[in-house]
Amino acid sequence: MILAPSILSADFANIQRDVEMINDSAADWFHIDIMDGVFVPNISFGFPVLKAIKAYAKKPLDVHLMIVQPERYIKEFRDAGADHLYVHIEACTHLHRTLQEIKKHGMKAGVAINPHTNVSLMEDVLPLTDLVCMMSVNPGFGGQKFIEGTYKKIKDLKQLITKMSAPTLIEIDGGVDLDNVHKLIAAGADILVAGNTVFSSKNPVETIATLKQVKVTA
Ligand code: DX5
Ligand code: ZN
Repeated sequence: MILAPSILSADFANIQRDVEMINDSAADWFHIDIMDGVFVPNISFGFPVLKAIKAYAKKPLDVHLMIVQPERYIKEFRDAGADHLYVHIEACTHLHRTLQEIKKHGMKAGVAINPHTNVSLMEDVLPLTDLVCMMSVNPGFGGQKFIEGTYKKIKDLKQLITKMSAPTLIEIDGGVDLDNVHKLIAAGADILVAGNTVFSSKNPVETIATLKQVKVTA
């Protein structure tokens, strides 16, 4: 399982310290949430902060765009340090073209889907999609409650990926904690994002190690 702590829950006044903590932990990627106050009812941060994170990060930046018309900024996000770029299916009129553009810019192409979006809508873009970020909360804020219907969606998407022999990995984003992590992996999740669970814990490095050690016996 790939673990991506979400920087949204980090201490922004000590961003370098928190980035170095993740560098020195068992975590695999940095999950970075960009919110524009239009697609979601919250504003997080933009290019200057992303560049500041990139300056210290020693692991890939997994950048989740919660913005309208994300196709306008593909090159800018690549130049600011994104290694993986997710656009929301609900924000893209020409998703196929946008995924091609992301790949052309040398990044892994990701599609994020809201809790209300049926996974069958991914079928025609799956061969172009390296990563699906399945939202298990309504996007916009850290620390929300996990939506239970997610397990079935993971199984449905996994089935579609297998049927189409697509290369796509499934990421789960929102409300991931030490209680649901087993069930998520058993359902077919490949990547877990964890914000609040990591950063609100007493010892984030230990929490990351515990999450990474979870093994699922069939
Ligand atoms: C929510 C963001 C998530 C968020 C997850 O809109 O996309 O990445 O940081 O935070 P937790 O793990 O606290 O739910
Ligand atoms: Zn996210």
